[in-house]
Amino acid sequence: MSTTTVSTTSSQRKKVTTLTFRQKKERGEPITMLTAYDYPTAMAIDKAGIDSILVGDSLAMVVLGYENTLPVTMDEMLHHARAVARGAKAPLLVGDMPFMSYQVSVEEALRNAGRFLQQGGMDAVKLEGGRERADAVRAITGAGIPVMGHLGLTPQSVHQLGGFRAQGKTASAAKRLLEDAQILEEAGAFSLVLEAVPARLAEYISKHISIPTIGIGAGAGCDGQVLVTHDLLGLFERFTPKFVRQYANLHETMNKAFTEYLNDVNTKQFPAAEHTVEMTDEEWAAFQKEVK
Ligand code: KIV
Repeated sequence: MSTTTVSTTSSQRKKVTTLTFRQKKERGEPITMLTAYDYPTAMAIDKAGIDSILVGDSLAMVVLGYENTLPVTMDEMLHHARAVARGAKAPLLVGDMPFMSYQVSVEEALRNAGRFLQQGGMDAVKLEGGRERADAVRAITGAGIPVMGHLGLTPQSVHQLGGFRAQGKTASAAKRLLEDAQILEEAGAFSLVLEAVPARLAEYISKHISIPTIGIGAGAGCDGQVLVTHDLLGLFERFTPKFVRQYANLHETMNKAFTEYLNDVNTKQFPAAEHTVEMTDEEWAAFQKEVK
């Protein structure tokens, strides 16, 4: 883990765009991305200098408490996207298209992608899947909306994949993944998330496509990295994937704070004098006269 550096520079930094992503790949500079679902987290991520924020459909699990990402709706995603857009100015903001918002038809995919920009304040959208999504990616990018692809472990297909499991581990699956990455690139995607795929495959794909890859559980050979912020902060207790590095334990910190508050209220140590509103003795005397 690197030594601690607290960044305070960000509100004046230049807006990160899809062009920045491309330039960073060309220069061999890692692209940084985290998820956010609310205003204060978005502000803190922006302030730290992170390149991009994904309003991920992981919202369903880490904020809304569902078992998987399938139940979250477009309206819920847009509600959280707007909060993030109010909090983060410099990062490239990517809205994650939820389950069934882009699978039914290309027209629906385009309409919902547009909503992320018009109603959610996002700069780009992300959707899961390879060759089967090429037409949707073409239509959305054709309308001027940048699209990030997502290959490997695609959580919206959890039932088809037989669970949250690593992908691309056989030669034929790896070849199919490479082809999907090339198809998405050709369809116009500006970047690609690679989730839970073997590190050497992710590195190979990253070297054989011109658009940046953003890895999660895909090793250091990707052009950038993304993590679910609640995992990084130790806020999500239910489970932590193997590929997460936990930089804080906020669940424990919250628990400690809540327990101390409980104790302070029970023992009447809170509120103290400094937390209390006062009125003058004259007004108090007048009040007592009024109510006699
Ligand atoms: O929804 C999400 O948070 C994601 C990341 C895991 C990439 O898709």
